[in-house]
Amino acid sequence: MNHGHGTSQSKEMDVPPDSLVRRLLAHYEATRRAMPWRETRDPYAIWVSETMLQQTRVDAALPYYMRWIEQFPTIDALADADEAVVLRAWEGLGYYSRARNLHTAARVVRERYGGALPDTAAGLRALPGIGAYTAGAVSSIAFGRAEPAIDGNARRVYARILDLEDDAIPAIHRAAVAIVPADRPGDFNQAIMELGATICTPRPHCQRCPVEDLCLARVRGTIPIRPSVAPSKAVPTFHVATAVIIDDDGSTIVTQRPSAGLLAGFWEFPSRICGRSAVARNARELATALIGAKPPRARRIDPIQHAFSHRIEIYHPFVYRVRTTDVAGDVAAAAVSPSMLSALPLPVAQRRIASAAGIPRA
Ligand code: ADE
Repeated sequence: MNHGHGTSQSKEMDVPPDSLVRRLLAHYEATRRAMPWRETRDPYAIWVSETMLQQTRVDAALPYYMRWIEQFPTIDALADADEAVVLRAWEGLGYYSRARNLHTAARVVRERYGGALPDTAAGLRALPGIGAYTAGAVSSIAFGRAEPAIDGNARRVYARILDLEDDAIPAIHRAAVAIVPADRPGDFNQAIMELGATICTPRPHCQRCPVEDLCLARVRGTIPIRPSVAPSKAVPTFHVATAVIIDDDGSTIVTQRPSAGLLAGFWEFPSRICGRSAVARNARELATALIGAKPPRARRIDPIQHAFSHRIEIYHPFVYRVRTTDVAGDVAAAAVSPSMLSALPLPVAQRRIASAAGIPRA
């Protein structure tokens, strides 16, 4: 008979949550890393940080976060910004739909909620780009809601502490609902994530763990299979012929990508996916169409590779030195000076191409 005190305990969850919670919070308190988003109570700043931290490590996200908050200090400021400026501020962080969604969501929050973020997980989830993780993180950290926030680190920690065989994120989320405390849920979620980032790593340091004796996988010897690892999928590789057309002033021709799909809205050097053996011919065809004349002989520079989550692209840049970068006829492209190029949102691989081609960084 359960007397209402404590939690009813299933076979998989016979951890005493109270001491688990208390010890994790105490450990977090004693070891937490200082981060600027932990010094604020501004829900907008917490939302921005959690969005950045979804796919980016803390040290890589930090300078972006600082610049972002300076450039767009409020939801209003973000809602007012141009998309190109927003993408430029995110440039280098990757997964650019995060930036586009933040921007769109800021406009929705202003129009539909009078500028204040919804303060529940369900309300947050209705916004573009906010999934279960971000809704849980922001509602718990900014609004004190007892909601789990399951990122990759938290998934691993819960799968081990509770020795969960079903380690899909929704299953972990359901199990975590019984653990996240009503008191300090935001700190607790961060304690779990922090443990996953520092101690309960893929190859864990159990001797340093504050809850080693409460960890069911540790006790049962199942750490090596918690969580299970999915076999990594093979990702396809694409070769991309790239024409870098430069005039004597350093101006170059660029084109804008479509408004949906990979790197939507970004600018790039004119390019075309083709077979590896056809890159020279394709680059030449692109250059011919753009300048409306036979281009001079190209200087070929070393290929530059970029790995997206689901594909690898290898850019093969061909540099054409021309007298003028006036764009021929009705081709959808623009000639830009080095300083304009610096201001446009450009994928990281394209910046590397620009630098390898000798375009001055303004
Ligand atoms: N990963 C994502 N958000 C985090 C946070 N607030 N603390 C620790 N790790 C995190």
